[in-house]
Amino acid sequence: MPSNSTPAVAQHALPSYLDAKHLGPWGNYLQQVDRVTPYLGSLARWVETLKRPKRALIVDVPIEMDNGTIAHFEGYRVQHNLSRGPGKGGVRFHQDVTLSEVMALSAWMSIKNAAVNVPYGGAKGGIRVDPKTLSKGELERLTRRYTSEIGLFIGPSKDIPAPDVNTNGQIMAWMMDTYSMNTGATATGVVTGKPIDLGGSLGRVEATGRGVFTVGVEAAKLSGLALPGAKVAVQGFGNVGGTAGKLFADAGAIVVAVQDHTGTIFNAKGLDVPAVLDHVANTGGVGGFKGADKMANEDFWSVDCDILIPAALEGQINAKNAGKIKAKMVIEGANGPTTTEADDILHDKGVLVLPDVIANAGGVTVSYFEWVQDFSSFFWSEDEINARLVRIMQDAFAAVWQVAQENKVSLRTATFIIACRRILHAREARGLYP
Ligand SMILES: NC(=O)c1ccc[n+]([C@@H]2O[C@H](COP(=O)([O-])OP(=O)(O)OC[C@H]3O[C@@H](n4cnc5c(N)ncnc54)[C@H](O)[C@@H]3O)[C@@H](O)[C@H]2O)c1
Repeated sequence: MPSNSTPAVAQHALPSYLDAKHLGPWGNYLQQVDRVTPYLGSLARWVETLKRPKRALIVDVPIEMDNGTIAHFEGYRVQHNLSRGPGKGGVRFHQDVTLSEVMALSAWMSIKNAAVNVPYGGAKGGIRVDPKTLSKGELERLTRRYTSEIGLFIGPSKDIPAPDVNTNGQIMAWMMDTYSMNTGATATGVVTGKPIDLGGSLGRVEATGRGVFTVGVEAAKLSGLALPGAKVAVQGFGNVGGTAGKLFADAGAIVVAVQDHTGTIFNAKGLDVPAVLDHVANTGGVGGFKGADKMANEDFWSVDCDILIPAALEGQINAKNAGKIKAKMVIEGANGPTTTEADDILHDKGVLVLPDVIANAGGVTVSYFEWVQDFSSFFWSEDEINARLVRIMQDAFAAVWQVAQENKVSLRTATFIIACRRILHAREARGLYP
């Protein structure tokens, strides 16, 4: 339990650029911070630092479309906290991206980076666009103009973007090239998740899914769930969900249901995961996959399974569907997939939730390896990378488990306790400038 000596915490009004009634994912994050505050002891004095981003940049991204018209897109880069090091976090291209969403994602990066103890603060970026509607040329112009607009903000020792939803190695290559052209020297360390030939790291593409799998294995051991034969359902079969699904299937689990933006597929005997991945690579989604039954999207949440992996977008597990979930364990591959109400419902049902801020930290861990390799121009083998990744994830998860047991709190609050202490210790030691 929190100590009685917890100091009074000054409450500040919301920044004027936020609407209290429409806080979106940022509101979810604020509730998570409120839950950890009683466990911060004297560091609670600094907690307001976590409740506002350090910097938020909104940029206009104009590009010439192939048909000759000029289109304007809204772009963001938010640096939530830089107390422990440069900003680090992905760039998302999605039509529903908002400032609130990017703020929350940047804050979860601060927590995640501190939880696995990589020397970064938290940042995130995005453009409000459906990239599937753009030609390759339009996508390149959009990426380059956005990179130029946020160019003053980012840099190998300032803030290092990476892939997120709908961005990949090619987008990172264009970002790296644009930044390098603008600064006059090749700067491989400005982004991670690059192609291998441009200073990318072996193992980075699969790293987030591998991290999801690693914490799943550890939690299964601790909670007595046998992985061979365990039934798994995955929402989102892109970089994170696809890799995690494959690793669970390789370990003998049965992937019974997969949902993505093209539909939901189900096979009680187990989907052929490599075949589903091929189908996604060829058609862009799981919809229409032959070796499965089609399922109504809303029925996905009540699928009979042991492990549920949300690996798509925020707020997918909410007060409406949390009660229907049959899984014993939820592993959050996505960022912010569970609302605070849903978290409580799952807790009351005895579902073990492995929170995003530890479960999907594998990606940023190998991004950290990539950045270190770029600085030293010395590259490691894939086995070395995977072994180091697994060790960091196992150690971080063991620490979270222990703090959860000691304080009788959820794994989410335990991760926040570890991370917020690290961030606020750094804040306190550095002191306030000037
Ligand atoms: N890529 C990384 O290294 C990384 C690291 C940490 C966290 N994440 C998080 O993991 C999640 C997935 O990221 P990704 O890199 O795999 O992206 P991705 O673009 O490779 O895949 C996204 C998946 O989500 C699905 N999806 C989109 N909208 C959906 C909807 N409305 N309903 C169901 N499915 C939908 C897509 O069809 C696709 O399968 C995001 O929350 C991201 O922030 C990614």
